[in-house]
Amino acid sequence: MPVSNHKLTTQEMARFVADGYLRFDKLIPSEINQNIIREFSLLESNKILQIVGQPPEAGGLQLPASLTPLSECYPPQSFLGQLLNLPEVLGIVESLVGPNPLFDHDFVHRLQAGSEYKQHLHVDAVVDSADPSFDIQLFYFPQDVAPGAGGTRFVPATHLRRTRAEGVGRYQHLLGEQQFSGEAGTLMVFHHGLWHAGQPNPSDVDRWMYKIRLNPRVSQVRQWNMEDFDDIHNDSSDHTFARMRHDSVAQILRSLQPWQKGHEARYEQMQRALVWRYLSNDPGFDVDYYHTRIEQRVRLIEESS
Ligand SMILES: [Fe+2]
Repeated sequence: MPVSNHKLTTQEMARFVADGYLRFDKLIPSEINQNIIREFSLLESNKILQIVGQPPEAGGLQLPASLTPLSECYPPQSFLGQLLNLPEVLGIVESLVGPNPLFDHDFVHRLQAGSEYKQHLHVDAVVDSADPSFDIQLFYFPQDVAPGAGGTRFVPATHLRRTRAEGVGRYQHLLGEQQFSGEAGTLMVFHHGLWHAGQPNPSDVDRWMYKIRLNPRVSQVRQWNMEDFDDIHNDSSDHTFARMRHDSVAQILRSLQPWQKGHEARYEQMQRALVWRYLSNDPGFDVDYYHTRIEQRVRLIEESS
């Protein structure tokens, strides 16, 4: 089935903008899940050897350089190459960052059985620009992760806060935070700004997770399946306190996380609206009139000067 058949819908894209992630349970076939850990083991060893300035004695896949097009990162016959070329995976990737994005970096995360290592909450960035474009990070779990077995912790909808990498490390037990658990082959896709952390592994097997960051190299505008776009893309009059739709993109972007109350929710809505303006190429898009109201005032001032 061609990649285009696996592209995200407008609803799913809006959900990504609202929550900062999407989750695809058991997306990757078991043949890949069962064989890929051997490749990951060599990749991990080579990465460590490279960091300490030693030759890649472990064998296995060659480490790609940043700026390599995704299609050229890994041999297509390797298990990792097969995974990254699955039409289901390419459909998700192309919807969010366009075709053949650039490899930024990847990392094999292995936590030994019984490890109490606990990563602090962080963002994979230092100082981000204020523009609405974004990278994605795929988080792939080749094994079952039981509830409480310590998969990645993350806080939905934190991705538009533009904090610095370690600036959120002191926050604990945030309302609404989640800890991944799920079946083998599950793929999560994060906006690069989503707050996350690796968790201890109380299970009796080593836990593996593979992360890859991808940069768009073309505009991210309208790269997804547009079949439902006209039906749910609202105009700027869609306003909770006037007349609102319940079937629109705005309604998805209004959804709140438990940590968002009062004016925090309004701030998030405004940030999400800016991302949707970019993705939809509609500079007049709005959620609950916040930008429209201000922009009208700006226009008045400009006209009077
Ligand atoms: Fe991270």
